[in-house]
Amino acid sequence: MNKFISGFSKLSKLEKIKWIANTYFSTPEEVEALLTTYWNADEKLQLLHDEFVENTITNFYLPLGVAPNFLINDTVYTIPMAIEESSVVAAAAKSAKYWSDRGGFKTSIIGTEKIGQVHFLFSGSSQKLQQFIQSIKPLFYSNTDHFTINMQKRGGGILDIILKDKTDLVPNYYQLHATFETKDSMGANFINTCLEEFSKTLLSQAELCTDFSEDEKNIQVIMSILSNYVPNCLVRAEVSCKVEDLADSTIKNPQEFAEKFVRAIQIAEVEPYRAVTHNKGIMNGVDSVILATGNDFRAIEAGVHAYASRSGKYSSLSHAKVENGIFTMWLEIPLALGTVGGLTSLHPLVKFSLEMLKKPSAQQLMQIVAATGLAQNFAAIKSLTTTGIQAGHMKMHLNNILNQLEASDDERTEVRNHFKSNTVTHAAVVELIKKTRNTI
Ligand code: MEV
Repeated sequence: MNKFISGFSKLSKLEKIKWIANTYFSTPEEVEALLTTYWNADEKLQLLHDEFVENTITNFYLPLGVAPNFLINDTVYTIPMAIEESSVVAAAAKSAKYWSDRGGFKTSIIGTEKIGQVHFLFSGSSQKLQQFIQSIKPLFYSNTDHFTINMQKRGGGILDIILKDKTDLVPNYYQLHATFETKDSMGANFINTCLEEFSKTLLSQAELCTDFSEDEKNIQVIMSILSNYVPNCLVRAEVSCKVEDLADSTIKNPQEFAEKFVRAIQIAEVEPYRAVTHNKGIMNGVDSVILATGNDFRAIEAGVHAYASRSGKYSSLSHAKVENGIFTMWLEIPLALGTVGGLTSLHPLVKFSLEMLKKPSAQQLMQIVAATGLAQNFAAIKSLTTTGIQAGHMKMHLNNILNQLEASDDERTEVRNHFKSNTVTHAAVVELIKKTRNTI
């Protein structure tokens, strides 16, 4: 049965829940109870979360874990990670500890430039357009002065505005391609506000331009929007140590390990199927910190994967080499992050996360996120090239299986003891629980 509803957004939260429960479920009372159980008892706090989006009905929990012992440029961090996947936080923590004994993560900022574009159609002489844009360029700046002034005080603002001729791609298509420095804010609102003002200036000045024919005056703005592709807002993270120092309880032959590791990364560099999974492992670390610090993980994902394809072929974001007996692994990713604005001062857990990270600037947060991505990648490749990932992954996943089976405390103890020395599989856990229940 298809049911449309009008005025849904005007209903109260409880009315919305009742409509959903009655429309889609055979046990509406249970659904109502489930959704309201997740409401926070503190009404003020709940209202804060309700108002983040439209049509909120309840809260959707994700665990907030922490990975301690991250040594980044000689400072020790405990990193907040919001993620649902069982083994990610454990892997980050393990990797952090491993590298803390080997000099830690070295990170640096390569660039912080953000990008926005006004996409428009112009039919006429492109040379005349070029001259026109040059002549009105100061107006793009002066007409946005009133809202760029604060950003300028913080050392940011509009860096440049250039005209790009894209008529070889779409007839009559040009861009105003603008670059920005937005300091500690992610800058989406700032950039979009500037762009919309540029487009107004473009249209009004075109009408006044005496060099233009009537056709040329008739510029059509298609859209004005920032780009989430920020290849010049770039951060690098690196770990390195002597090959012999790679040895630990799972790495008995460090030379062989290093060679196999470098080969694994080479495969991700040249083989897109592997590269996607390889980079997914990096994003396990990146996204979880992005979420915990209230940043926009969709923007980061889109930009990072575009960057991974910049050569025209999707490839690994990380690299590794052995040179003169030194193992080095590094990562370069574009990250447009903010530590002010957006959710950063609104969401209590985001505030907590940023405070635990010692109130970083956007540049410091970029480095922390990149180090977490690299740590995650190192942990994944180390497992893949030595023990395989399933042992660790299933060990962490055991709790989920026990919860699914609604295991009692005694059953949990018995199962955990058993799987200390046996391989965890879903079937094996079910089998053991069945056996335990039959014998009780
Ligand atoms: C799982 O979430 C991530 C890995 O698949 C990454 C990788 O294969 O490199 C383990």
